[in-house]
Amino acid sequence: MARLKKSNGTVSCRLYRTILTIREKNRAIYLLAYTSLKMVNANQYGLSDITINHLSNKLAVSYIENKNLLINNNMQTIKLNNGIKMPLVGLGVFQILDLNECEQTVLNAINAGYRLIDTASLYQNESAVGNAIKKSGVPREELFITTKLWVQDAGYEKTKIAFQKSLDELQLEYLDLYLLHQSMGDYYGSWRAMEELYKEGQIRAIGISNFFPDRVVDLIAHNEIVPVVNQIEINPFYQRSIEHELLKKHGIVTQSWASFAEGKNEIFSNEVLSGIGRKYNKTVAQVTLRWLVQQGIGVIPKSVREERMIENFNIWDFQLTQRDIDAIATLDTGKSVFFDHRDAETADWLTKLTF
Ligand SMILES: NC(=O)c1ccc[n+]([C@@H]2O[C@H](COP(=O)([O-])OP(=O)(O)OC[C@H]3O[C@@H](n4cnc5c(N)ncnc54)[C@H](OP(=O)(O)O)[C@@H]3O)[C@@H](O)[C@H]2O)c1
Repeated sequence: MARLKKSNGTVSCRLYRTILTIREKNRAIYLLAYTSLKMVNANQYGLSDITINHLSNKLAVSYIENKNLLINNNMQTIKLNNGIKMPLVGLGVFQILDLNECEQTVLNAINAGYRLIDTASLYQNESAVGNAIKKSGVPREELFITTKLWVQDAGYEKTKIAFQKSLDELQLEYLDLYLLHQSMGDYYGSWRAMEELYKEGQIRAIGISNFFPDRVVDLIAHNEIVPVVNQIEINPFYQRSIEHELLKKHGIVTQSWASFAEGKNEIFSNEVLSGIGRKYNKTVAQVTLRWLVQQGIGVIPKSVREERMIENFNIWDFQLTQRDIDAIATLDTGKSVFFDHRDAETADWLTKLTF
């Protein structure tokens, strides 16, 4: 990315020329320049609002023309063990309880280029996700929609009913990814129901969430279909690299929830992460997401703010070095920033969590 001149409220001619040259060569990169400029702290670089607006207007034309190109460039995917492709970056909608806000958030995300939306029956906002999908006008086959089966619906029969309810709430004909939310209750019965729904073509892929290594290995050993994904808490404070390696060995993609630890441990002002970010002109959020996707780990950061969605999506134009990765490794505490799913108290609380 071209550098901005720190001076008297103007953008250097070099930058402007560079943008124009890039435009001729690659219109998608031109848009990345636009989003990055919008995120630049104008005061830091002494830029006037007029200068920013002038550039933004010119670049906005390109934005509209080249939206699809940008989406293609940013929409890096990973192949699942059944051959289908899943976007590496998606939007999570946990704790967006206001349905209007959730619908608008998902619509904004899809407009910004997101194609994977991660919800769950537990989040009670599947209907809002469904409304946003309808309103977006994006062809169904371009989207990748995930939802999850909660503990109260564990068991063969209940899973079939819960799946149909989720599908109805989402107003979809089929689901892309259905996850067992927890390894609790009769989840073997659930898995058999999910295998059937998968074979019938109602779900494109089935996976698991919050499964620890022993549960993963046992599920694989006693069932026909190997899960495509295990969605687990992973962030710089709880890195779980051995578990990620085990999942890889079994052909299961790791997907991180709470990549930002939901802001705990003051992650957004963490010195190690912000120091790395300064080198690449990136934020802590972008460094964290880049660190994950560079390992082949999918991410589903949650944000209700459009500028953050764009920021969280803009992680493909830099690469962390081994030194950066080693520095991030020092942040690992080996423990969840929330709770251990294997604690008796947690299991009791999760079992009683119904809606
Ligand atoms: N399978 C499971 O058991 C499980 C459990 C938890 C979560 N999940 C899934 O994983 C998704 C993500 O996890 P999460 O929502 O728990 O936490 P998260 O993504 O780690 O953090 C979300 C928080 O970070 C803020 N944020 C987002 N982008 C930011 C940025 N660029 N700069 C500064 N702050 C930023 C958000 O605030 P704003 O919204 O105000 O921007 C929100 O407060 C969930 O939405 C859900 O889909 C799954």
